[in-house]
Amino acid sequence: MSRLVVISNRVPLPDKSGTAPAGGLAVALQAALEERGGVWMGWSGKTTTSRERAGFHIHEHGKITYALVDLSRKDLDEYYAGFANRVLWPLCHYRLDLTEYARKDMAGYFRVNRLFAHHLAPLIKPDDMIWVHDYHLIPLASELRQMGLKNRIGFFLHIPWPPADVLFTLPVHETIMRGLASHDVIGFQTSHDVENFAGCLRREGIGREIGKGLFEAYGHAFRAEVFPISIDTAAFAHVAQNAQRHAMVQRMQKSLGDRDLIIGVDRLDYSKGITNRIEAFEHFITNNPGSQGKVTFLQITPKSRSEVPEYEEMQRTVAELAGRVNGAISAVDWVPIRYVNRSIGRNVLAGLYRMARVGLVTPLRDGMNLVAKEYVAAQRSEDPGVLILSRFAGAARELDGALLVNPYDIEAVSNAIARALSMPLEARRERWNQMMPHLLEHDVSRWCEDFLKVLAAEPGGSTGADQAA
Ligand code: F6P
Repeated sequence: MSRLVVISNRVPLPDKSGTAPAGGLAVALQAALEERGGVWMGWSGKTTTSRERAGFHIHEHGKITYALVDLSRKDLDEYYAGFANRVLWPLCHYRLDLTEYARKDMAGYFRVNRLFAHHLAPLIKPDDMIWVHDYHLIPLASELRQMGLKNRIGFFLHIPWPPADVLFTLPVHETIMRGLASHDVIGFQTSHDVENFAGCLRREGIGREIGKGLFEAYGHAFRAEVFPISIDTAAFAHVAQNAQRHAMVQRMQKSLGDRDLIIGVDRLDYSKGITNRIEAFEHFITNNPGSQGKVTFLQITPKSRSEVPEYEEMQRTVAELAGRVNGAISAVDWVPIRYVNRSIGRNVLAGLYRMARVGLVTPLRDGMNLVAKEYVAAQRSEDPGVLILSRFAGAARELDGALLVNPYDIEAVSNAIARALSMPLEARRERWNQMMPHLLEHDVSRWCEDFLKVLAAEPGGSTGADQAA
């Protein structure tokens, strides 16, 4: 079995006791690395002053070598806060109105990818399999190829891939497409993303599909397939079962009394549709006066990417909106929206999901959305809550027991809240049973195995006419 080399912008370094940080992806990738032995490389989370040379730290934990790179303030501003999060992120989430194309950020993005490649290349053995994660690192494989590496290289995109007309607004879209085409396997979250990607190849005459899931571009054959990411379903269900013992979960239950709980959990990000959701909840409460005093909407929103201006501004907007709605409809003994602007531990979160009668997951666009999957996994089989899910989340392709909504349609989301809160037990169980077995079978370990199986099996490389079946 080949060694595995994983590269991602953030690296979940185990603590001193060797325990991996919580989170399905970290656990699954760490398990795969433990099994095969390998390297996990990425940004150390530390900044150096721009004059220093970027540092490189190696930590050994069992069979895994963690290789971490420090970045300068300039690198981070241009690569992470600039190109990755002010260009690629809004673009891939269909937000052309928010993209900020600056030449220096583009240059910084490609420079940091080159830097990663230079640090990584000496650690690679000829039969290692390399797995690159997410939009921060699209050009990495092409840098490695230019340095002569012939290894199998896979890429998984955790976020959506946009249609051609959206991508082509990016001045360097051709270089980005070339970067993607340097891999042997590209994993997307949904078939829509693969279709969009195939459309981008076709429209510019860059490449073409030469077999099912097999593409050719720039003289290189590669696979582009769907690998919907998931959670560690059984483990999360177990955490939720035990969470009732947690003091904070008990305090929440007590403070809730016999009110119904609606829960939303999202990083503070414009793609998550938090303001639309608050408006939908306001619409529901004002149009269903009987619910006043009987429902609590808990929105948990940890701060995120605060160095990016659009995120900083959003922090103000959401807080103001929640404040305005509460001011308008609160009673002296009831606050309709509890807005928590920080992160909550996984154990408590699992208990809150389990307590919630409704999981409100309404992103405007989302690669997958693991909150939706966690909400389902946390439910009681005998009395499950109802998931309201945006049709624009990747998870909507799998979670067919959810009430699917258009998050832009405030009245429709409001109606879905009313429907979910009044749904009879039998219907709730039926819907939950449509989803939970699927999530148990298609968990994050299965996702990891499926991807690595395809990466190990499929030959890519240069294309000749013989491969054009
Ligand atoms: O969804 C994409 C993603 O990069 C996730 O992998 C990550 O958990 C999240 O966004 C947080 O982003 P950041 O690393 O910018 O805080």
